[in-house]
Amino acid sequence: MFPIKESRFLSGDVKLFRVEAPRIARKRQAGQFVIVRIHEHGERIPLTIADSDVEQGTITIIVQGVGKTTRLLNQLEAGDAILDVVGPLGEPSEIKNFGTVVVIGGGVGTAIAYPTAVAMKQAGNHVITIVGARNQSLLILEDEVRATSDELYLMTDDGSYGEHGFVTQKLQALIDQGRTIDHVLAIGPIPMMRAVAEVTRPHQISTIVSLNPIMVDGTGMCGGCRVYVGKECKFACVDGPEFDAHQVDFTNLIQRNKMYRDREQESLEAFEA
Ligand code: FES
Repeated sequence: MFPIKESRFLSGDVKLFRVEAPRIARKRQAGQFVIVRIHEHGERIPLTIADSDVEQGTITIIVQGVGKTTRLLNQLEAGDAILDVVGPLGEPSEIKNFGTVVVIGGGVGTAIAYPTAVAMKQAGNHVITIVGARNQSLLILEDEVRATSDELYLMTDDGSYGEHGFVTQKLQALIDQGRTIDHVLAIGPIPMMRAVAEVTRPHQISTIVSLNPIMVDGTGMCGGCRVYVGKECKFACVDGPEFDAHQVDFTNLIQRNKMYRDREQESLEAFEA
């Protein structure tokens, strides 16, 4: 069992957990994730490690309650425990001094982008962070991201906070201003990542996205997480989750992620009934 040391909501349905997992805390690198199972008959879900504290032996995960399992998880509190936490899994982010790096986080994707922004800053990059959300109440980790960014732009779809507009509009504006951008990392909803890829493609700016396909084992055995990158089949859990945005087949990813939509909805409705 993995004891929960701290839990708190960051926004309406997004909750932060600090979980005791000393071996994972020691080994994890930016971009890696864990697979979590709450109870013996529960499904296994992947969650990015947002942070870790080696001295305390804890990792931080951030969960958006969108389906049955994530809502169950978000009912847990400090003092409870999670049955299984397996990891760190996946390939770490490629961290080096690119020069100027733009890190883009959409919604809860900000939690995934944050550790990479920290690592990019530590590697000596000038870090420009663009964080977007539908409205102010869904913006998370503002203080943490601000502390690690040389420049921070906050965008909301409804203009309730920061600037009114999408993250892609801000990225396009920076490019139009003639800013030198050496590398982009975008993490968030699939349409957002796809749109970022189309903004940077004509300028040949290297762009990485972190993919979120359905995962089961997280170790390359079930094939559930397969994605197509440059026409090659890759397993996001072992080959990713980060890939070259200009090579990703987003249409296939969207189709595969919809495969169990009806079952997921049934399960959620039964849970809420
Ligand atoms: Fe099973 Fe990746 S989750 S192969």
